[in-house]
Amino acid sequence: MSDYLNVALPKGRLGEKVYVMFEKAGFPCPEVLEDSRKLIFENPEAKVRYFWAKPSDVPIYVQRGAADIGVAGKDILLESDPDVYELLDLNMGKCRMAVAGKKDFRENTHRTLRVATKFPNIASGYYASLSRDIDIIKLNGSIEIAPILNLSDVIVDIVETGTTLKENNLEVFETIMHISARLIANKSSFKFKDEQIERLCAGLRQVIQ
Ligand code: PRP
Repeated sequence: MSDYLNVALPKGRLGEKVYVMFEKAGFPCPEVLEDSRKLIFENPEAKVRYFWAKPSDVPIYVQRGAADIGVAGKDILLESDPDVYELLDLNMGKCRMAVAGKKDFRENTHRTLRVATKFPNIASGYYASLSRDIDIIKLNGSIEIAPILNLSDVIVDIVETGTTLKENNLEVFETIMHISARLIANKSSFKFKDEQIERLCAGLRQVIQ
């Protein structure tokens, strides 16, 4: 197990693109892209083992050393603040974290703002920087329905194409930050598997250019 490079990929379309980058960087394991329910794949020649994890769980595997390397969005990293090294911006999975709400929403600074979000830490930090009192309503998905049903005044959420907002008659009020996918490493793997990790980073830098 230990001479393999263990890689946690975020399950989904972004993860598939990330795998293709890793393959081009010299760590192939074509079985990863086969249509199956299998979650762990290894290539003994390339000494690499990939596994699919829920995107928000990737930093947990990496911090605890179950994975040496992982790929996670900057949103997830800022929200969970894992004790890992962030090695590279992969320049993909680009989107933004934004405040959005109903088009006719008018801010009333005398009232506590109700904010629905999957990202309570990012939202709290943002409004603290504005000295604005808020009430966080933590949801796990379909955030856009919160202001429509008057569960919240606004949402703090990911906007990629803007389609979800548009189709629900919502609009962006503020962009909080731009997001992209990052390569992260377990701190002790970074020391003990330095040769493989260096080779991976060098290969990925070439692919990114
Ligand atoms: C994300 C995000 C938005 C949507 C934005 O949701 O929370 O709802 O994508 O993408 P768009 O700007 O391209 O429309 P996700 O698909 O992860 O689903 P969930 O949050 O509802 O689980």
